[in-house]
Amino acid sequence: MAINKVGVLGCGLMGSGIAQVAATAGYPTIVKEVEDAFLKKGMASIDKSLSRFAEKGTITADQRTQIIERLKGTTKFEDLADCDIVIEAITENLGVKRETYAALDAVAKPGAIFASNTSSLVITEMMTATRRVDRFIGMHFFNPVPLMKLVEVVGTITTAPAVMDEAMKFASSLGKVPIRTTDRSGFIVNRLLVPYLLDAIRALEEGVGNVEDIDKGMKLGCGYPMGPFTLLDFVGLDTTYYIANIMFDEFREKRFAPPPLLKRLVLAGHNGKKSGRGFYDHSDPANPKPLY
Ligand code: CAA
Ligand code: NAD
Repeated sequence: MAINKVGVLGCGLMGSGIAQVAATAGYPTIVKEVEDAFLKKGMASIDKSLSRFAEKGTITADQRTQIIERLKGTTKFEDLADCDIVIEAITENLGVKRETYAALDAVAKPGAIFASNTSSLVITEMMTATRRVDRFIGMHFFNPVPLMKLVEVVGTITTAPAVMDEAMKFASSLGKVPIRTTDRSGFIVNRLLVPYLLDAIRALEEGVGNVEDIDKGMKLGCGYPMGPFTLLDFVGLDTTYYIANIMFDEFREKRFAPPPLLKRLVLAGHNGKKSGRGFYDHSDPANPKPLY
């Protein structure tokens, strides 16, 4: 069950990071998008991240060239046919993911492992769109993937133990620290993180503090690297909104319900850093301005 070649579905915030760390670890890596324009955008963010590592001396100029040579982009499922593992990081939507998995299952080799980077969807619900229920897992990376050390490895009731072991080994080979968890919406980290982020929005709605002060409070009072609104803009408000709806649907608990302000920002297309505006105005990326 050796992993020699890696496929990635989606080259957005997460897929680009996952492709980057796989290629950096030495794996020939192919990443699929729906359109060339999205591939180009994702590859540009990989290039930017590698430049930061090269400037710092974390990688040499030669290594940078080799990493880029190991990375290929495509818009065709067939190009993933010889991958030993395919990590999916497409939009957080069950219907879209099931459709994508069914198409991938038809072309991928029978032994290939499928791993979803979902934040909140139930792995079992995606796995049933394929014929490989023993070789389907969750591999949940964290944003920004090139820097964050954790990967949650998620087994379902049908995942073969050898597949879990292989995924743990593979995550370690990417320089990450894997932890095992089970197929519950949000796994370990988002079970705790998402109610906290949503509560920050509720605190803002109730006038407890403004964006700048709530962010300062959690950074300086608790030593968090980013305040909740900076993190919400970083994760993407659209993605957070999808996650909240999925987790609320699963647990039926108010703490997972999306606050009205989050819904309105997403409806207006204010999706955070990636769209230039969310809780902050990001038109000058080096100096985001709080809006609420
Ligand atoms: N690639 C390469 N280098 C990068 C980078 C990237 N993508 N992003 C930042 N860096 C580098 C910077 O160049 C900088 O380098 P120097 O120290 O040499 O200057 C260094 O990393 C630190 O960056 P910054 O000074 O810009 O900012 P920072 O000190 O705040 O660190 C951070 C950045 C590591 C992202 C830190 O802010 C952090 O840990 N934030 C919290 C992130 C977090 O909580 N992520 C989880 C989100 S939730 C999730 O992912 C799950 C889900 O399902 C939604
Ligand atoms: P994103 O919107 O930045 O990127 C998603 C990409 O998937 C888009 O570029 C889109 O064009 C592409 N896509 C959609 N359908 C596709 C298909 N059929 N084939 C190939 N590409 C397709 O989203 P993201 O933030 O990268 O999130 C992706 C996944 O990772 C989601 O499941 C999300 O919950 C999860 N996740 C996100 C974060 C985060 O902080 N944003 C952290 C961990 C996990």
